[in-house]
Amino acid sequence: MDPRPIGVFDSGIGGLTVLRELLYQFPNENFIYLGDTARLPYGSKSGDTIKKYSVQNLEFLKAQNVKAFIIACNSASTQMQEDNYKNIPLYNVIGPGAEEAVRISVTQRIGVVGTRATVLSKAYENKIKGLAPQAEVFTQACPLFVPLAEEGWIDDPITNLIVYRYLKGLLQHQIDTLVLACTHYPILKNSIARATGNDVKLLDSGEAIARKMQEDFKNQRLIVNQKQTQVRICMTDSSNHFIAMAEKILLPFNTPDFEVVNL
Ligand code: DGL
Repeated sequence: MDPRPIGVFDSGIGGLTVLRELLYQFPNENFIYLGDTARLPYGSKSGDTIKKYSVQNLEFLKAQNVKAFIIACNSASTQMQEDNYKNIPLYNVIGPGAEEAVRISVTQRIGVVGTRATVLSKAYENKIKGLAPQAEVFTQACPLFVPLAEEGWIDDPITNLIVYRYLKGLLQHQIDTLVLACTHYPILKNSIARATGNDVKLLDSGEAIARKMQEDFKNQRLIVNQKQTQVRICMTDSSNHFIAMAEKILLPFNTPDFEVVNL
């Protein structure tokens, strides 16, 4: 048994969509989540800056004695290789998302929506093409989705219009799978599904990373814990708005008290 927590980080509260999925799938595990709310957004920053922040986040989690690192943030995932970080297993969301997209797409016409940093990095395209050279990948940066999700404008007519405007071009390519390559986008899933229709499968990072971890618990790269005793949520900045959003995202799980930390 390994009672050490699993460390998860994101640029902010959006990664709680990933934490929620992990809480569902691994109810016995302890978790520590770090949201770098003081420096959000990452998706409009340069690769070098995102990498520098990511290393600081990993160092913070390492100091908490984690047994694995999960980079929930797609923008940060484009800058950090999946492997080990200082001998501790490190997961990012690109590999699992790409593998899952290739697995579930029938036509191998795959759309990817994310922040500008994620789309410009071509990380998903390269990974998907590496796995399935015949696949066709169509990408679209949707920078307005993050503020809409943070504003809580979920399933709002204005959000629906903006979603439609961003996705219109992608949908002309007859994709059958759409990777929601940003932690915040699952919050807008209803609006996105309304624009894509039922023929397009929506894939979010939380489901993909959880599947990968299930495999690694089976092959013992990760060792299970017996009983959950602690879930911690740390933020580099806090506000009532963040707390209210976090509570909504994590439902039906209770949100533990936020701890404000310095990196
Ligand atoms: N967490 C980021 C991502 O998944 C979205 C928010 C941001 O730009 O920092 O790419």
